[in-house]
Amino acid sequence: MIDAALLEVRNLTKRYGGLLAVDDVSFDIAPNKITAIIGPNGAGKSTCFNLISGHTRPTSGTLAFAGDDITGTPDYRAARLGIARTFQATALFRNLSVIDNVIVGTRQHARSTVVDAIFRTPQHRRDLRACREGAREALAFVGLEHHAARMATELSQEAQRRLSLAIAYAGRPKLMLLDEPVAGVSHEEMGEHALLIRKIAASGCTVALVEHKMHLVMGLADAIVVLHHGKKIADGTPAHVSADPLVIEAYLGVKTVA
Ligand SMILES: Nc1ncnc2c1ncn2[C@@H]1O[C@H](COP(=O)(O)OP(=O)(O)OP(=O)(O)O)[C@@H](O)[C@H]1O
Ligand SMILES: [Mg+2]
Repeated sequence: MIDAALLEVRNLTKRYGGLLAVDDVSFDIAPNKITAIIGPNGAGKSTCFNLISGHTRPTSGTLAFAGDDITGTPDYRAARLGIARTFQATALFRNLSVIDNVIVGTRQHARSTVVDAIFRTPQHRRDLRACREGAREALAFVGLEHHAARMATELSQEAQRRLSLAIAYAGRPKLMLLDEPVAGVSHEEMGEHALLIRKIAASGCTVALVEHKMHLVMGLADAIVVLHHGKKIADGTPAHVSADPLVIEAYLGVKTVA
């Protein structure tokens, strides 16, 4: 039996003026798998993530998450439903410690209100404790537990990437969207990072990633979706996609004889 898709993307379209950044794209993200979205610069990959995570609204098309229509759902609500993301450019609070970055990132899941915070109610204290514990667990998960008190900016590029993963992971999402998770990571450190992405998937969190580094994608992904000029030109297993003449043409700019 085939598992139902965790995310169903149907005819997704985003228009910016005269440009169709994402043009009638449909694909599924299967649960508990790693799906890569690839394509040349400007193909519409980050825009796709922005649409799924609710950072931007689609011009048309639909999104269904765990069977529910989430089209047009804003980012804070998508996060509560279990969709977390990391950004292409690392987005950390530069003047906060490592652990405070994780806590701030997970506060959206807290149950206390502003009133609770002002009056420091028991609910607020419980939430703070739970946030701190959750943040410590997430830091341990990515191997940063010994760096909790350092300032985020003191971390190496690679550790900052791991911190971004911890922030997204701390809310225990069902789906993590990772936009170029190894950008700025050295070749030597990339293997470790790939293992961490595998570990996230093995923990029961479905992973979708955008990545240019093909050896990483081919080694990690169970399924690949290829975008080019906003359109989906192929999808399937890594073997299937890498043999597709349209994909080869998009990447190499040469036509192949099928
Ligand atoms: N907010 C925006 N306003 C106008 N145009 C946009 C906006 N966001 C993206 N675009 C355009 O949409 C197209 C797709 O951009 P997108 O960032 O999704 O590409 P990408 O596949 O992530 O590329 P890269 O690999 O370089 O990150 C590009 O032509 C980009 O300039
Ligand atoms: Mg991008």
